[in-house]
Amino acid sequence: MKGIILAGGNGTRLYPLTYAVSKQILPVYNKPLIYYPLSALMLGGIQEILVISSPRHLGTFRDLLGDGSQLGLNIEYAEQAEANGIAEAFIIGAEFIGDDAVTLVLGDNIFHGPGLGRMIQAETRNVDGCVLFGYSVGDPERYGIGEVDADGQLVSLEEKPTSPRSNLAITGLYVYGNDVVDVAKNLRPSRRGELEITDVNRVYLEQGRARMVNLGRGFAWLDTGTHDSLLQASQFVQTLEQRQGVRIACLEEIAFRMDFIDAAACYDLGSRLGKTDYGKYLMEISRQARQD
Ligand code: TTP
Repeated sequence: MKGIILAGGNGTRLYPLTYAVSKQILPVYNKPLIYYPLSALMLGGIQEILVISSPRHLGTFRDLLGDGSQLGLNIEYAEQAEANGIAEAFIIGAEFIGDDAVTLVLGDNIFHGPGLGRMIQAETRNVDGCVLFGYSVGDPERYGIGEVDADGQLVSLEEKPTSPRSNLAITGLYVYGNDVVDVAKNLRPSRRGELEITDVNRVYLEQGRARMVNLGRGFAWLDTGTHDSLLQASQFVQTLEQRQGVRIACLEEIAFRMDFIDAAACYDLGSRLGKTDYGKYLMEISRQARQD
């Protein structure tokens, strides 16, 4: 299974914050936004990852994450020349995907909840068609909405419906079999001139090969697209981290707990950040693991 993080776009709703800086590099409490979607892929056991961003910002992500080897990952990079739509990720990433299945996560989506990793691992095993992740929202008119039958089979898809058939919003995490590359290559741009992910999902829906998993009420799916939602996401992470004494989307810890790196490597990564609570936390969890 390959993973793609789509971290381009224009971030126009966050101006002036995003005049000069990519949205996905902005801080969410104590770490860059892209750490959160990356952590979801890692928890899903995915180690081969392509980061796609605009030509202007791609270098920043390379500076931040390098080749990923420090986290036991293999991270590659590719440019999206313009914000031509989410589905273009599969065309840009075709060579990287090769003969594998692929999980796409949007670079500005934050997922947090019990068993997230296990859920992604279960859904990425033997995928045929597509798997979407739904999240119950109070204002379905603002989202892409999916309706499922009792078996979790997707039965309808609606974009910002005026009379929604369900309240399950389709989140920015998508799992596809290898044929998604061909599906994307055969898409026609929408009226907005974009290759829409909804059109990809509609192909699978029409073939009866689309499922949707409901993340459930114990999960948080956070938006970061506006000034208020970005601040609220920071406050959410701060509250949970301080209250529970554990970290959300701490990549080094996840790499260690997933066995991508060992305790000594985790300690080293922590010592480089030794002046911060983040670094001290990493040193502490690796020290404890070595004592067990
Ligand atoms: P959006 O939030 O739809 O767009 P945006 O990030 O450009 O923000 P704004 O509406 O404020 O202008 O994008 C969702 C995510 O997908 C985000 O992480 C950016 C990414 N994206 C791309 O990388 N390329 C694209 O062509 C599109 C449409 C989105």
